[in-house]
Amino acid sequence: MSASPSFLQRYKWPAIILMILLGVFLLMLFAPRFLGDMFQLDPKESRYLAANAGNPDYIYECGACHIAYPAQVLPKRSWHKLTNNLHDHFGEDATTDKIPVEQIQAYLNANASDSENAGKFRDFMKQIQSPAPVRVTELRFWRLKHDRIIQKEDTMVLNNPDVESFSRCNACHEKAEQGEFDKQTVDIPNIDRAEYTR
Ligand code: HEC
Ligand code: HEC
Repeated sequence: MSASPSFLQRYKWPAIILMILLGVFLLMLFAPRFLGDMFQLDPKESRYLAANAGNPDYIYECGACHIAYPAQVLPKRSWHKLTNNLHDHFGEDATTDKIPVEQIQAYLNANASDSENAGKFRDFMKQIQSPAPVRVTELRFWRLKHDRIIQKEDTMVLNNPDVESFSRCNACHEKAEQGEFDKQTVDIPNIDRAEYTR
């Protein structure tokens, strides 16, 4: 009849301490997300929504051959380099014809990825590999975000008649020119979502 204490009685305190530790661990893991969602009231800080996108002068001068890339996708020094060489722009003459180039430069500088209007696009500065990259699609952060698609570039991009080039952001990000690049609104034409969403 010797009453050996039950398992639970014997390990009550260690069990309680373990539960508390687990609780603290889970809180540390998930709290930043919950708090972030609750308190990041400005969507431009928590989502890839470019501020001041859709500038009519900028779209007029820089949106004729491709979409007018939101200024937030490159740093000031890249825009500087690009806009100082518009006569030889990837083999084309992209010199501005109506709006003075200084005005376009001022707009780009005010909204670049290293400007105060960068918002979440500050991420595009991460591990930037050359002093003034002129292609968004070469940025390390951009490539990280599109790694699954890059792996299947042939089928998803190059041989996809509705995409053809990664530089055509708007083929998959419908509202790219309005500055919207959320992964919730992305859609690769002719490709099953399951193949590229995480
Ligand atoms: C006459 C046509 C034309 C005009 C106008 C034009 N571009 Fe371009 N742009 C091009 C071509 C062609 C490319 C290369 C596209 C490719 O290789 O797929 C390019 C590429 C770019 C890229 C690199 C995109 C990438 O691959 O990541 C940027 C950035 C860019 N242009 C910015 C501008 C800006 C800023 C203006 C306005 C000052 C402008 N472009 C006006 C033709 C033009
Ligand atoms: C072939 C289709 C395609 C093209 C072209 C494309 N993207 Fe994307 N992009 C995607 C997909 C798919 C995702 C979401 C990946 C994922 O689920 O993580 C994405 C994600 C992103 C994100 C991150 C969104 C988020 O909420 O995390 C940004 C920013 C972005 N793209 C910018 C661009 C820019 C700028 C261009 C043009 C230079 C571009 N993309 C061209 C398909 C594309």
